[in-house]
Amino acid sequence: MHPVRIAPSLLAADFGNLRNEVQSVESAGCDWLHLDVMDGHFVPNLTFGPFIVDAIKKHATKPLDTHLMITDPWKYADPFLDAGSDLLTFHIEVEDGGDVGALLRHIRGRGKKSGLSVQPDTSVARLQPYLQDLDLVLIMSVFAGFGGQKFMNSVLPKVRELRAMGFEGEISMDGGISPATIADSAAAGTNVFVAGTAVFGAEDRKTRISELRQLAHNAGDMGATDTQGGDI
Ligand code: DX5
Ligand code: ZN
Repeated sequence: MHPVRIAPSLLAADFGNLRNEVQSVESAGCDWLHLDVMDGHFVPNLTFGPFIVDAIKKHATKPLDTHLMITDPWKYADPFLDAGSDLLTFHIEVEDGGDVGALLRHIRGRGKKSGLSVQPDTSVARLQPYLQDLDLVLIMSVFAGFGGQKFMNSVLPKVRELRAMGFEGEISMDGGISPATIADSAAAGTNVFVAGTAVFGAEDRKTRISELRQLAHNAGDMGATDTQGGDI
């Protein structure tokens, strides 16, 4: 199955020192870099656009896992892919705005990995028509919009539901992932763990990433190996 991957969310980084922050978590052993894009419309918060992704790409060696919390991914997918996103995930809740399957196939057609995300109150059953076009499903374990929120255990059954639907791609969980919550997430079958506060707020980021990885390995039943999962 899929390896354990630790993906620090740069939302919790020091943006005045972005180059060093990227290099810090890469040298601390992260697998992917998670980039939270918010448009002030799909979510109440605003973050950054392709210009910043491009700047990060210049200093990153790990895959860029871009999470679009925006109303119109059809309009902005190409600029984010051009900027260097290796995985591009958008939310199923925006599906009335365009053809979801066509956008997923477009992302794959550009040689990148496609993803769909579900808010805590959205059923994974809504992903059923798109499973064949998906590389990754991102399950929100907080309501999208802000870092530092409390992990919602209630989303855990979604992981098994997705597997029961026949989805064989990567399953990521995002929001409130920490040493206290990662084992439950891994035991449910998650293999990608997005962590903002828990990584950037740690006194020693390398120790924290190793701790998260170890806890996920121990709890996971997805047959993960002890190799790092930087490849995609
Ligand atoms: C929330 C974002 C998350 C967030 C995670 O909308 O998608 O990636 O930054 O932050 P923590 O780990 O602090 O909950
Ligand atoms: Zn995110």
